[in-house]
Amino acid sequence: MHHVLSAQQFSKSELLLILKQAEEMEKVLAQGGTDIAHNKILATFFYEPSTRTRLSFETAMLRLGGKVISTPNALAVSSVTKGETVEDTARILSGFADIIAMRSKEVGYAERAAKVSSVPILNAGDGPGEHPTQSLLDLFTIKKYFNLEKPLQLVFVGDMKYGRTVHSLETILRHFPNIALTFIAPSSLEIPLKHFHPEKGDQKMTQLTDEILEQSDVIYDTRVQEERFEDRNEYLKLRDAFIFDEKKVARMKKNAILMHPLPRVNEIASAVDGLPQAKYFEQARNGVPVRMALIARALKLIET
Ligand code: CP
Repeated sequence: MHHVLSAQQFSKSELLLILKQAEEMEKVLAQGGTDIAHNKILATFFYEPSTRTRLSFETAMLRLGGKVISTPNALAVSSVTKGETVEDTARILSGFADIIAMRSKEVGYAERAAKVSSVPILNAGDGPGEHPTQSLLDLFTIKKYFNLEKPLQLVFVGDMKYGRTVHSLETILRHFPNIALTFIAPSSLEIPLKHFHPEKGDQKMTQLTDEILEQSDVIYDTRVQEERFEDRNEYLKLRDAFIFDEKKVARMKKNAILMHPLPRVNEIASAVDGLPQAKYFEQARNGVPVRMALIARALKLIET
């Protein structure tokens, strides 16, 4: 079954095929959509809040001609409040829908769901663990501006510890060894060891220097993940560690890109939004064609 559980599951040839299929889906979108999924149902079941991921999954299914059932606030309105397990939830949903996109607060829920589900599970973010479908739309966005096989300086900035989008994107970027990775975070939010590979040339730093701004091709900024902190004062101390304003972005190369999975809080000033390097809204829009490709693959409506 075509579950999407972790960025680790993809081979390079699969990644390249998904990128190509997402490009095809962009053309389909330009025509208003298709009906290849006309008798299929997507269930979105989100234990944690979301704007982009849930609604882009749902848009993707509707643009494929399918239907959607949705529980956007499972911790408040579903039988999870009565103690229902993720396994039982998955068993029930897989009797209703043909495919399930699930977001959880805990690491590993999507895998637990996949063990008992009779339909594909798409991990839409599991706590501080992974966000594999986001990493595919991130890769799709980078490929629009750069040749993935040529040398490229990519710098992650912000919350490397809890930032699940970083964990997944770092993983898939290993298939493109010409992309050099630097991780910049306050020392208490540094990249977990399993995602840091100095033997592959990775660097980690605690300061966002002018040199970094001037030399990077891709800067992937992230929010400090407030919801993962037990001590709010600790969060408040770290929240504004790195702020991209017009002055900082003016130091970036003209053809460099500034990405962010969103939502942002303070870390990118709104004055940056109109600058040529700012690609984060486009990045979010890319979620629709990429998720169309992923749903169509999982339902075996296109080549896998
Ligand atoms: N990028 C992302 O996961 O956004 P949402 O939390 O709004 O889904």
